[in-house]
Amino acid sequence: MLEVMTRLEELRRRHAAAEEGGGAERRERQHKEGKLAARERVELLLDEGTFEELDKLVQHRCRDFGMDSQVIPGDGFVTGHGRITGRPVYVFAQDFTVFGGSLSETNARKICKVMDLAMKVGAPIIGLNDSGGARIQEGVVSLGGYADIFLRNTIASGVVPQISAIMGPCAGGAVYSPAITDFTFMVADTSYMFVTGPDVIKTVTHEDVTKEALGGSMTHNSVSGVGHFIAQDDADCVRMIRELMSFLPQNNREDAPRKVCEDPIDRADRELDSIVPEESNQPYDIKDVILRVVDDGWFFEVHEHFAKNIVVGFARLDGRPVGIVANQPAFLAGCLDINSSVKGARFVRFCDAFNIPIITFEDVPGFLPGTDQEFGGIIRHGAKLLYAYAEATVPKITVITRKAYGGAYCVMGSKHLRTDVNLAWPTAEIAVMGAEGAVNIVYRRELAGAGPEARAAKIAEFKERFASPFVAAEHGYIDDVIEPHETRLRLIRSLRMLETKVDTMPRKKHGNIPL
Ligand code: HXC
Repeated sequence: MLEVMTRLEELRRRHAAAEEGGGAERRERQHKEGKLAARERVELLLDEGTFEELDKLVQHRCRDFGMDSQVIPGDGFVTGHGRITGRPVYVFAQDFTVFGGSLSETNARKICKVMDLAMKVGAPIIGLNDSGGARIQEGVVSLGGYADIFLRNTIASGVVPQISAIMGPCAGGAVYSPAITDFTFMVADTSYMFVTGPDVIKTVTHEDVTKEALGGSMTHNSVSGVGHFIAQDDADCVRMIRELMSFLPQNNREDAPRKVCEDPIDRADRELDSIVPEESNQPYDIKDVILRVVDDGWFFEVHEHFAKNIVVGFARLDGRPVGIVANQPAFLAGCLDINSSVKGARFVRFCDAFNIPIITFEDVPGFLPGTDQEFGGIIRHGAKLLYAYAEATVPKITVITRKAYGGAYCVMGSKHLRTDVNLAWPTAEIAVMGAEGAVNIVYRRELAGAGPEARAAKIAEFKERFASPFVAAEHGYIDDVIEPHETRLRLIRSLRMLETKVDTMPRKKHGNIPL
């Protein structure tokens, strides 16, 4: 009896030590920097009272550098499982108060354990990162721990959703685990990611750059595209993760959770009928179209600050989560360039991997011309988007609102890439190129010396004969030309029709997407 009591006391002592982490002083410092502690983050992320911690008693095995006298149960990583709106998720959080949240051999194993469980159970994995990287005192076993995690990230890719939140530093090779995961959130002002920090850069290239400019949340959300979301603080970050989760299935064998739809499916927004400007080169905001069509006008945008000429994100139609991909005429005229192609391709592939139907709104004048783009490999990158649409087997529906020119017509979910339903608004212009450019080439000789009226007449004729949606509809490349206010109803009916869709790819090890 006495022994049992002693063990109970020992257990309580160890649990308390794990919860204490690196101590009040370090926790205080964390709070002063506007950051929550690892356990506070996990508690906030999960439904109240659902967190089950694993490996709280695990300890590091390092005996060098005086580490044997610095042992904290749990070794600073909080791992386990819990629920988000009732659905199971696996989670790990790095505690910066314990050796700067650095990765030891043993806490790498803790992460691998939850990842292995998540894969077996078929549940998402969420990682809350706040770490100085590989634990310096442990050397290669820590590096090996990272590689073990990278392997699991790769194996789990396309099997269960993987979400990373960067809530502090994330440096060195450690950035590659978030990079493999599906979505990366960054917290404004407190998070940063880089392969090598400002000091190394200064030594190697003599470049002066701050941490924030090099790898802060806005840099990665607007310039590099590494980050998909910016949160204002830790609480905002976990709230956004919970919202994202509401659009995602648990794994690649399930459908995303449906909500009861209280927005009438036949809601006809007449503003849509005049939303596209008369002049074909006038901009409008494609997000206005999206908001008027989807359930409750609610759109959860992904990659909001990156490659704004394409808009991607999640919404619901008839209560069912869908992925939206839309050219944005209000930014760079909605043309496709390197960044927008990569952004769109990755999103399409995510939706396809996780059974989320893809709705495309198309208004694209073509690929962005210029040496920058050609030298940067627009051919290779543009091909990614084409490849992603072509291989996707989920329900695919495209609505052409205005321009569908050239190669971009083919790429953006055209009928030829086995899109199931292709609709066009009467304002659609489907052609090899814009009417003015086409007339300049085709009628160059004829119009030499002719006045502006003759030119205008030829442009009008070209638009009528080649660029109207009716030509494409006559070929069956467009299933129907619809009135814009019907869009919501037509999309929902099409989705209902496609609910049991099955499409496949031939057996292969994997394709060779042009990376
Ligand atoms: C062990 C570490 C550590 C690390 C920080 N600490 N990083 N301990 N291994 N990698 C400890 C510090 O000693 C300190 O302990 C505590 O964490 C807090 O660190 P501070 O430096 O006081 O905090 P701050 O000023 O906020 O700076 C944070 C930091 C800095 C920018 C992250 O600590 C830093 O530069 N750390 C090293 C980063 C790094 O180069 N990591 C290796 C990357 S390479 P005390 O006891 O004083 O509280 C890598 C390879 C991965 O990760 C390979 C995968 C392929």
